Amino acid sequence: MNPYRLRAVTLALALGGSGMACESEEPFPNLDELDQLRSLHSLGRQPPKDSTNRMDGLARAEALGDVLFHDSGLSRCGTVSCASCHGGEGLTVPTAKAKGCDGHLSERNPPTLLNVAYNRWFMWDGRADRLWNQAILPLLNPVEMNADAQVVRARLTSVESYTTEYQALFGKAPADETDSALLANVGKVMAAYQRTLVRIDAPFDTDVRRFITAAEAGQAEADPAYLGLKTFLRKGQCIVCHKGPALTDDLFHNIGVQDSSSGAGGQWSALTPLLDWEFNAASRHSDAPTGTIATRLQTMRTQADPATLEGAFRTPSLRNVALTAPYMHTGAQATLEEVIDFYNEGGDAAGSFVGQKTVTMVPLELTNEEKRALVTLLQSMTGATPP
Ligand code: HEC
Ligand code: HEC
Repeated sequence: MNPYRLRAVTLALALGGSGMACESEEPFPNLDELDQLRSLHSLGRQPPKDSTNRMDGLARAEALGDVLFHDSGLSRCGTVSCASCHGGEGLTVPTAKAKGCDGHLSERNPPTLLNVAYNRWFMWDGRADRLWNQAILPLLNPVEMNADAQVVRARLTSVESYTTEYQALFGKAPADETDSALLANVGKVMAAYQRTLVRIDAPFDTDVRRFITAAEAGQAEADPAYLGLKTFLRKGQCIVCHKGPALTDDLFHNIGVQDSSSGAGGQWSALTPLLDWEFNAASRHSDAPTGTIATRLQTMRTQADPATLEGAFRTPSLRNVALTAPYMHTGAQATLEEVIDFYNEGGDAAGSFVGQKTVTMVPLELTNEEKRALVTLLQSMTGATPP
């Protein structure tokens, strides 16, 4: 059941409201909601440091990562770089799928790389647990860059500055490196570069701060952000998953997005491969393979529940969302208006996706005004262009 609706009814009863049909609700925001609003704005200027990547924050690693990210010579076909699928203002493509080697299409919609280093998990199903190990997947993926360690080594060896920089950072020439160490290290410099792809400070942040001041002065309803924020928190329940300054809970949910592809199992199918992966954060390629990381991964194995993980995908950040159409892991929704209609209907029809929809996915009965206010709110989340 909708906890907010439930609470409004309980409150109406507690206040001795006579009619059951009484639609009166408490003024927005209440104290809990004010706290939620306070947690939404001002994403930190620097993404958190990744202790498992010793290249993180090193200018020299960022520079090498930058050129490698844009180098199609790392693909077997010679025509596809990371930037082929993560380009333009949104660092993604404007189509549902992206083109890899030999015209193959990616299995899913490429997420934006803006603010990617704030993420806790990578890929829609969470099958990578660090930004550096994520990079190995597109390099090896036959429908993306279709490379292997030999292709990558040949490229690093053929460009003199690559060899020099690699040697300076890792103390070994690419030619003398083992296959797996080479791939992990290339991932680490690419992650160092991607950590700089930050785009924050959106009109949204200013609006939320101003709205909080207005609410504290009892003037919430007069504020232009009132209806959008109220719908985001109350009737839309978006805040249940899109919370905190990155507007994500860093978790996985089945919200009922139509998908009959082989990857439709979502996080449930991705978990065991991640836990057994030779490149995960607890592996020998991690620069901080502490017991804590291994224990945490093992706990996931024992506590994983197919009832919640099957068909579950990662809650994406909503920052810069207006730059990254189309939407969802399938790219099925072309516009933000379509996304709102999807939520308003309570997700796609049961049977069109794997697993069970989470209980909060119910028809929302939004008015046209509320829908428009939500779209305007989402559009306000685009960050200022970085200097
Ligand atoms: C052919 C297109 C293509 C290429 C080339 C490509 N990617 Fe991607 N990228 C994708 C797709 C599609 C996804 C989502 C895959 C999934 O979730 O199953 C993705 C996901 C990601 C993610 C996860 C983002 C998130 O929010 O979870 C990162 C990081 C990333 N790519 C970086 C890279 C890097 C680095 C390279 C080069 C080594 C690269 N990509 C090459 C298409 C591509
Ligand atoms: C139960 C958790 C949950 C709730 C509630 C929720 N979302 Fe989401 N949201 C997700 C997940 C998970 C995805 C990705 C799903 C997928 O691709 O399969 C997503 C995707 C999106 C996207 C697409 C982003 C992109 O980059 O493709 C938008 C926009 C969005 N949500 C907005 C909203 C709005 C607006 C609301 C409230 C009306 C809302 N969400 C409520 C979890 C949630």
